[in-house]
Amino acid sequence: MTGTTPRIVVSRWIPDDAVALLREVGEVWLPEPDRALPAAELHEVLAGADAAVVTLSERVDAAFADAAGPGLKVVANVAVGHDNVDVPALAERGITVTNTPGVLTDATADIAFGLLLSVTRRLGEGERLLRSRTPWSFHLGFMLGSGLQGKTLGVVGLGQIGRAMAARAQAFGMSVVYTGRRRAPADVEASLDATYLPQDELLATADVVSLHCPLTTETRHLIDAEALAAMKPTAFLVNTTRGPVVDEAALAAALREGTIAGAGLDVFEHEPDVHPGLLDLDNVALAPHLGSATVETRTAMATLAARNVLAVLAGEPPLTEVTP
Ligand code: DGY
Repeated sequence: MTGTTPRIVVSRWIPDDAVALLREVGEVWLPEPDRALPAAELHEVLAGADAAVVTLSERVDAAFADAAGPGLKVVANVAVGHDNVDVPALAERGITVTNTPGVLTDATADIAFGLLLSVTRRLGEGERLLRSRTPWSFHLGFMLGSGLQGKTLGVVGLGQIGRAMAARAQAFGMSVVYTGRRRAPADVEASLDATYLPQDELLATADVVSLHCPLTTETRHLIDAEALAAMKPTAFLVNTTRGPVVDEAALAAALREGTIAGAGLDVFEHEPDVHPGLLDLDNVALAPHLGSATVETRTAMATLAARNVLAVLAGEPPLTEVTP
């Protein structure tokens, strides 16, 4: 530690409860609210840091660690996904990396299911119609959507959020199939009545494909033109994990050409940009990365990150470490 009071750098705004925790043990550097620091500026303020609290928008790599210097002990990512962090590069320097699993499971599954309802029941389209003051009248064929009861949800990645999505689908009378790197434990399969399928079979049979796998080199563009063509023309795709899991240009083409029926997207390949081909389509429901965006969840995420910092600075094991 540099001196007696640790220096803790926070890269983006975090809730006050988490700042208060960090202030119990260190001198906390906070950014201006709502301002993303360019990497060069962030690297400047990192100098001499013992700990850093970051969000998914910051690239945390060797240059980040070197900018902080040899005193950096922990980087707490306020997100469950950690594709923004080069974990091996930090591990090589003896820096602990933590994330925030568990606390955002329900919030993210809620958004995934909300996007699914929005696109299948054409809620966004209906609202746009009303707001554009277009004349309309009720009739039995007006703005018909697709029901979910009796349909099959295909979960890609049956981790905590995938399971929470599956539970919501069950409550809506859907059956559940899933795919992933490995089979879920038997009790998890039993409680969700979930059947494991290889990915190609899942794509061919599911009425809804919902993505819950992390972004890795293996999952980048997992859903590409070929995967989209393997889905039913009546099927919907939901993505609340990371944008690059989907080839967004291929998705825009598939939605335009009717290869699949629709999509609900909370994340984008080149965030914050959205592929222009998606913006004009009615068969896609869009949200600006709101998966964990509730007051309760963001507070829980940031305080978990702060507790991880406190633990490491006290020489104790972190609560939720990411290992290389
Ligand atoms: C995460 O935690 O990875 C989400 O994408 C941000 O809430």
